[in-house]
Order: sequence, then C-alpha cells, then structure tokens
Amino acid sequence: MHPFVRRAPWLAVLAAVAQVSCSDFTECAPVDAASAALPERLSGTGLFADGSMTVPGADVRAFTPQFPLWSDGATKRRWIRLPAGTRIDTRDMDHWQFPEGTRLWKEFTRDGVRVETRLLEKAGPRPEDWRAVAYVWLPDGSDAVATPAGQRDALGTPHDVPSASDCFGCHGGTPSRVLGFSAIQLSYDAPADSLDLEDLVASGTLTEPPEGRFTVPGNDVERASLGYLHANCGHCHNQQRPESDGPRCYEPRNSLDFRLRVDRLGALEETPAWRSGKDDDFEPGRPDDSKMIQRISKREAGWSMPLLGTEKVDADGVALLRRWISEMKR
Ligand code: HEC
Ligand code: HEC
Repeated sequence: MHPFVRRAPWLAVLAAVAQVSCSDFTECAPVDAASAALPERLSGTGLFADGSMTVPGADVRAFTPQFPLWSDGATKRRWIRLPAGTRIDTRDMDHWQFPEGTRLWKEFTRDGVRVETRLLEKAGPRPEDWRAVAYVWLPDGSDAVATPAGQRDALGTPHDVPSASDCFGCHGGTPSRVLGFSAIQLSYDAPADSLDLEDLVASGTLTEPPEGRFTVPGNDVERASLGYLHANCGHCHNQQRPESDGPRCYEPRNSLDFRLRVDRLGALEETPAWRSGKDDDFEPGRPDDSKMIQRISKREAGWSMPLLGTEKVDADGVALLRRWISEMKR
C-alpha cells in the first residue's frame, strides 16, 4: 500500500479523483436533458415520408461525404433537412454553421441488418447548441427508438450504438460539429440524388458561395491518404478544436492535425497533416517505424486509433497509409 494512504485516506481519494479527471480522456459530459428533448421515435423526426420507413420526405436530401469514416464495414446512408428558406453560414469555409432547426441523419446497416439511425439537430443559435441521439431499429423494422445510453452488439450484430454523450467525442471536436457535410467533403461529383458543393452553390444555400470546388493536393495515393486522415482522425486531431470546460471527451493533447483546410491545399507540404506529422507521426519511407501505422494496425482499448467507433482494423485503410508512407520522399 502507498504510505500516503495509511496517513490520510481522504487525501489519497482526492488525489485519485484529481488524477482521473485530468488523465481520463474517455469521459464526455452527460447530455441526457438535451437528447430527451428529441422525439422518442424516428418516425417523429421528419426523416421519412408519411407512413414509410424507407423513403425520405420531399424536403429531405441525401448526401455522401467523399471521404467516409470507417465503421467496421457498416454501410451508411445520410440525409439533411434545412428549415425552409434558410441558408448555411459559410463565412468560415472550413466550419459551416447551420441554421437553427437543421436536422441531419445517418443510418447504419451491418451484415445486412439495419441497426440504427443517428440524428443531429441544431437546437439554438450558438455553435455548441446541438442535440444528438441514436435510434435503434425495432426487429420488425416498423420504427426505431431513441437510445441515449447506446447499446452494445445491437440487433445481434457486432455493431455498437454510441451513447448520446459519446457523439460529442467526435462531433464536439470541430467548431461546426457537422463532420461530413462540408466544403471539402462535398467537393466532388456526388452520386445521383446526393447533394454536392455545386448543387448547394446553384441553389443559393450558402451565404458565401465559393468560386469552385476545393481540390486535395497530390497524386491518387496522397489525395486518398489525406482524405482518409481527414475523415477518420481529423475530428479529434486538429488545432481548431472548440474550448471545453467539461471532461476531456477524447481530446488529444498534442500537435497532430489531420484536418484538411481550404487555405492549405496548395501542395501536400502545406497540409496540416504533413506539417504536424512528418518525422514524428510518420517516418517517410518507413511505415513500420511510423507511430500512425502502429496505432491503426491493431485494436487495443485506449491506445489504438481511432479511439472511438471501431473494433475492427480497416485493412484497406492501413494498406493505403502504408503505401503512402513507403512512397514518401524524405
Ligand atoms: C467515432 C467518431 C464518431 C462518433 C462517436 C459519432 N460520429 Fe457521427 N459522424 C462521424 C464522422 C467522421 C462523420 C462524417 C463522415 C461519415 O459520415 O462517414 C459523421 C456523420 C454523422 C452524421 C451526418 C452529418 C455529419 O456530421 O456529417 C450524423 C447525423 C451523425 N454523424 C450523428 C451522430 C450521432 C447522433 C452520434 C452519437 C449517437 C454520432 N454521430 C457519433 C463521427 C462520429
Ligand atoms: C475520438 C478521438 C480520436 C480519434 C478519432 C483519433 N484519435 Fe488519435 N488520439 C486521441 C487521443 C485522446 C490521444 C491521446 C491519448 C493519450 O493521451 O494517450 C491520441 C493519440 C494519438 C497518437 C499518439 C500521439 C503521440 O504523440 O503519442 C497518434 C499517433 C494518433 N492518436 C493517431 C491517430 C490517427 C492516425 C487517427 C485516425 C486513424 C486517430 N489518431 C484518431 C484521440 C483520437
């Protein structure tokens, strides 16, 4: 036993509490009240046309980010609904601010089973005024039920539904809170029926429309790697993370920055990922010695990357980043 404990047990307890609160990065602030204000059933959220639990309503638009997050092989569909007559504030092109009342949904299907549909709602004027919850589908597919506590291995699949507070472990990491509906993520020819940047400009939906698309620099492998890091790592590892006075909630405290920015797309060497990671996080030409490759090549709780939302190594993602680092010039 630590000698300290024998002398003054209450001091040891205080020390332990202090240590937990400054070193435990997996705690997020509870958001029970906010998620309770959302409809209890998915059918009440306005996603689907009346009576249908598959066909989106007329004012709901589908979108697909060009660089998706790896979710252990789940397939995903995503939608947005802006209140009629509103626009997205794009003065800060990297961190769009959405009008109050905006709703975004994301549906997960794992091993052929539609497991959950997540909802984000802009609930007030401040950038942090977002509500979030996941709806877990009933086995008969007739509706889905708000599940603020999350659920492990939902509907007999290995898919874990995150709790409402864990949503902010990722979505709380950028000033926008929306991660896949952005200038860079929509700068491509989206599939038919999916919104892209050009559609948003043409429909007058952006307050400051950009002059054209944003292009990620580099050859195919470099572009795909930068996009992969942006989508899978950048919501936690970036240097514009909003201040938080709550628990650490998966906040990394280091200089790594994997998020692409519209004003740093001139060349690979200008991107935050290159500037913050080279020689420290990745060793040009030496994937095995690169911290990044070590952390993404296995799953060990609290150490492997990404820290949240995955239990299965993304073999294609690892192969891509290994190739990028192997071909990197010193
Ligand atoms: C592991 C990190 C992570 C967690 C945890 C997470 N998300 Fe996301 N979410 C993302 C990323 C990254 C995207 C964009 C990329 C994509 O969709 O593939 C996204 C996209 C979304 C979208 C589409 C709008 C957007 O931001 O692009 C919704 C809606 C959403 N998430 C809701 C939720 C809700 C609700 C929870 C909690 C129940 C949650 N998410 C938990 C990372 C996460
Ligand atoms: C949900 C948030 C989150 C995501 C997503 C995430 N990380 Fe991290 N990462 C962290 C935190 C928090 C730490 C610091 C943990 C600690 O204090 O030990 C960290 C630490 C690291 C480190 C160690 C840094 C060092 O100097 O020791 C590396 C390397 C890393 N992450 C790479 C990645 C890569 C690559 C990805 C994407 C594939 C990624 N991370 C995704 C939160 C995240």
